[in-house]
Amino acid sequence: MTDKPVVVLTHHLLPEVQRDMESRWNLIQVEGGKLNLAEVLSARPEARALISFLSEPVTREVLKCTPNLEIIANYAVGYNNIDVEAAIENGIWVTHTPDVLTAATADQTMALLLAVARRVVEGDRLVRAGGFDGWASDLMLGRELNGAIMGIVGMGRIGSAVAARAEAFGMRVIYHSRSRKPLLEKERGYRFVEFDDLVESADILSLHLPYSPRVHHLIDQSVLARMKPDAFLINVARGPLVDEAALARCLKEGCIGGAGLDVYEHEPRVNPLLTTLGNVVLAPHSGSATGHTRMQMGRMVENSVVAALAGKRPPHLVLEWRERKPESDPRV
Ligand code: GLV
Ligand code: GLV
Repeated sequence: MTDKPVVVLTHHLLPEVQRDMESRWNLIQVEGGKLNLAEVLSARPEARALISFLSEPVTREVLKCTPNLEIIANYAVGYNNIDVEAAIENGIWVTHTPDVLTAATADQTMALLLAVARRVVEGDRLVRAGGFDGWASDLMLGRELNGAIMGIVGMGRIGSAVAARAEAFGMRVIYHSRSRKPLLEKERGYRFVEFDDLVESADILSLHLPYSPRVHHLIDQSVLARMKPDAFLINVARGPLVDEAALARCLKEGCIGGAGLDVYEHEPRVNPLLTTLGNVVLAPHSGSATGHTRMQMGRMVENSVVAALAGKRPPHLVLEWRERKPESDPRV
């Protein structure tokens, strides 16, 4: 047997990254549809690191099963799947993968927006079904993005990258965010507005804020009803930000123009009504899914675990950990 540290992983990673990890650690890869993380970790009490994924909640209960854990390295920028408070109380580091996926996720936002606005998926289906009978002046009329108002909720790294892309397409950017961005307002001309204003003025409403219970169903029936009737909703953030059943009804009734979704309220389940509608484009939570980005996410996770297992403060700590005062920080 090996005396390398035991590191548990609940999805496979890109082969290059995983081979590297296997050479460093005793990497235990447990994969499966309905994974019970508490059981997995109970069976591995010697585990010192967990590489976690947004599909597996790391709850207080889960943490009780793992006495020797030193770090949870989340392979995602969003970390609402982790009870960070419970981890901090137990002196367990929590890291994530910011920055490296910003461009890929912003690209996915534009991909969904363009697909909805120009009916790319509908058109593809038409052609494949043999329904393209020849050019016509009114075939697959879509919506112009030039001059449209892009309303961004959450002007962080990803929101800003989406804003830059929107600008390049000739859109005007308004935003609502926890904090104002004076530099972006001054240099790029983005306008901060109240949330209600944003909802009512935006031609495209695009979500780029982290999920927490505080913003559960931020986009609900009443918000959808106040959007412009031809507006698009784009969600590449987290499913439960949107009341998915209300959105499906609204898209069916035509109370907004369309939607592009990368994430779902009950992933991997998708509201069945959504899958019958032509005015929504559905992606399988693949916002950061480029080879380049996934490689970098893997390296980032690896570096965080390496540092933590060497007794150092790991890079890429989540906000709550970074904000801890050193004197209350059990590990510094
Ligand atoms: C993906 O959803 C992520 O948070 O990285
Ligand atoms: C994501 O991490 C963001 O800040 O937008």
